[in-house]
Amino acid sequence: MRKNRLRIVIAIIVIFLIGSFFVEKKEGVKQKLPTLGVLQFVSHPALDQIYKGIQAGLEENGYIDGKNITIAFQNGQADQSKLTTMSQQLVQEKKADVLIGIATPAAQALANTTTTIPIVLGAITDPVSAGLVKNDKEPGGNITGVSDKSPVDAQFELANKLLPKSKTVGILYASSEENSKYQVDEAKKVAQQKGLSVKTFAVPSSNEIAQTVQVMTSEVDFIYIPTDNTIANAMQTVVNEANKSKTPIIPSVDTMVQQGGIATVGINQYELGVQTGKMAADILAGKSKPETTPIYTFKTGDTIINQKQADKLGITIPNDVLSEAKIIE
Ligand code: TRP
Repeated sequence: MRKNRLRIVIAIIVIFLIGSFFVEKKEGVKQKLPTLGVLQFVSHPALDQIYKGIQAGLEENGYIDGKNITIAFQNGQADQSKLTTMSQQLVQEKKADVLIGIATPAAQALANTTTTIPIVLGAITDPVSAGLVKNDKEPGGNITGVSDKSPVDAQFELANKLLPKSKTVGILYASSEENSKYQVDEAKKVAQQKGLSVKTFAVPSSNEIAQTVQVMTSEVDFIYIPTDNTIANAMQTVVNEANKSKTPIIPSVDTMVQQGGIATVGINQYELGVQTGKMAADILAGKSKPETTPIYTFKTGDTIINQKQADKLGITIPNDVLSEAKIIE
């Protein structure tokens, strides 16, 4: 009898222990970390910098991957169908609480997938013409974030100072990129105001870039490049072709100057990411909502000069420009 009772007591204790183990586990599942889904359009130096900045911006605001947040990162490799599938994965499988889209096509893919989960825009040229928000000041829906609209006026002013003899500028971009169309229209206007004649060269895909740049070098005095992902991804090809005829390139961002452009007035790509990360952190923490958070734009850019490239093409940088510029060797 006694033995049996003891057995029953032990059995009850064991069952209780096993049971409590499972309950604990279940609670552990309940307390899953919030998930941030990040979709990057493609890899090129500028977008890679932006993603690094995003991670830093999140950390600065208390969110560390693996500790109190899970970051689910996807790269669409410039493939529209991948962008669609990855957006669905982030929403349905990863159950992202907040999403970030880096570059216009990625943000659009996310926006087509959810109208309820908050989406933070990572460096979108013009959120309104991309159909992402109704209004920069009051986005209204589930989307807010950072625009990297370029200081086009300052860029052409710099071009005039560095290349005063130029008469014709050629603008190189990809016809598939809506974000570029917006900036190309503005660049046309600004360049004409500054007395330049403008020729535009839209490539259907990256396959035509080398040949198009060859044509450009015989028709224009310098090449201007907007924040176009396709061109940024093939910047080395552009530089190699342009170098053959010593045709200078004025791009829109620091990373493209580093790769062989002459100079620009540009927004720091890393800082764009930091700001994007901060806005995502505020939404995760419940401090802000996309609908009432204005799109963040940068008022000024840094003057950046590639001295080595300038030397190579025999371009002298005036002292007043040099004194305020960041020099890349
Ligand atoms: N603004 C671009 C877009 O909306 C993305 C972008 C950010 C970019 N920085 C860049 C493109 C630098 C080319 C170069 O898609």
